[in-house]
Amino acid sequence: MFVPLERLINLEEGYRRTFRVNGQTLLLLVVDNRPVLIEDRCPHQGAPLSAATLEGDVLRCPRHGLAFSLSSGRAVQAGCPGLNMFRLAYEGDRVGIDV
Ligand code: FES
Repeated sequence: MFVPLERLINLEEGYRRTFRVNGQTLLLLVVDNRPVLIEDRCPHQGAPLSAATLEGDVLRCPRHGLAFSLSSGRAVQAGCPGLNMFRLAYEGDRVGIDV
């Protein structure tokens, strides 16, 4: 089932917004003109990543400063689990997620 999140026309560089889907908080961002959907939860200790800083495609968690690549989802630091990433789906003029 397709769950729409946002209209394509609103996906501008710098876009960042959270959505609740099936009890999970998801974070949709546009980085390098590419939409990326991740869980809004740091894999380290669960801080919300919606408040993270962004440098290039590297997202840095505000709580302890661990960094994650939005291209690969991997943590920059060895030994830390990567981001929980979701595949985006498209229907009409909307981007969303298949659940
Ligand atoms: S909770 Fe994100 S770095 Fe620790």
